[in-house]
Amino acid sequence: MTLRELHERARKTLDPVVYDYVAGGAGEERVLAANERAFDDYALLPRVLRGSAVRDTAVDLPGAPRTAPVFVAPTAFHRLVHPDGELATARAAAAEGAVLVTGTAATTAVREVVAAAREAAPDPAVWFQLYPHPRGEVTAALVRRAEDAGCTALVLTVDSPVFGRHARDLRNGFTDLPPGYAAENMRDLPGAPPGGLLDIPMSPEAGWAHLAELVRGTALPVLVKGVLHPDDARQAVEHGAAGIIVSNHGGRQSDAVPAAVDCLPALVDAVAGRVPVLLDGGVRRGSDVAVALALGARAVGLGRPVVWGLAAEGEAGVRRVLATLRDEYDHTLALCGGRRNADLTADMVVAKGGAR
Ligand code: FNR
Repeated sequence: MTLRELHERARKTLDPVVYDYVAGGAGEERVLAANERAFDDYALLPRVLRGSAVRDTAVDLPGAPRTAPVFVAPTAFHRLVHPDGELATARAAAAEGAVLVTGTAATTAVREVVAAAREAAPDPAVWFQLYPHPRGEVTAALVRRAEDAGCTALVLTVDSPVFGRHARDLRNGFTDLPPGYAAENMRDLPGAPPGGLLDIPMSPEAGWAHLAELVRGTALPVLVKGVLHPDDARQAVEHGAAGIIVSNHGGRQSDAVPAAVDCLPALVDAVAGRVPVLLDGGVRRGSDVAVALALGARAVGLGRPVVWGLAAEGEAGVRRVLATLRDEYDHTLALCGGRRNADLTADMVVAKGGAR
């Protein structure tokens, strides 16, 4: 079954309001569409007579040595789409040797998520995503929670100073989690009543000092997610980031930004090899993975496709999504005359049809 078919099954399975929450983007959804379309405009020039029957596609990421080049990007509220929720996603990612980014908006506590990943693989890599919080003690408590659970890196999402405006959710009146679901990691934090929850924060006044403080307060590597301007990538590295995730939040924040992959080359240049650059947004097939890696990404993240796999088939569906992308990517690498990821180089990526 292709990713497209899994998406279709998820659409038929899900409550239309939940489907819209996952599928939708900000504003007129121009960026949402552009992320996928941008990949259509790139073609790969294969190299010939230099291939290998045995290919090595593993990559080293912060807190995740020899991992798959495709990781699970943080997406909120997995229990909304499948009763096993994040536990299923965690087992699937671990079994497929892929990094799972869980985080602030998970409907399962991080301790349980990491425990589930450990059921599926001896040494899984689970990262914890958080938003800047105006109160440092809240961030510190979340970081301790992620560390104690066994997460191996943190991800600070910086593209959300305010909530994106999602027309579909506004139209559907979907503004709160239904009863029975909660962002479990936000429970029992400083300032909340016992057993109570804090809201997921948006901090329009967060600054680089926030990143520096986060880096100082943990031994874990900290990646910065949601960077599109090359100067911000430089600043992130200077403030201690262990990696940059080029992302426009899957088109869910600003509807006026470029497609994620179109931003990648400038950020790769700016970072100049000091830390790994990762990318998410619009990755749907193995050749998309190959284009991103050729343009300098160390790894790529999947957002919605993982949620569709989870909704359609639970843990098996997430495994199917990750395995499909891995197999397609390996096949593309073979067709490009590659034996390892580094054999894909920027000169092999060309514009397909001229101007978009
Ligand atoms: C997201 N994304 C996201 N990112 C983040 O940093 N924290 C979060 O809580 C969420 N939540 C979330 C929910 C849903 C339903 C979606 C679809 C996305 C963004 C996500 O990490 C990633 O950047 C995009 O989803 C990548 O684009 P694709 O693969 O969905 O095209």
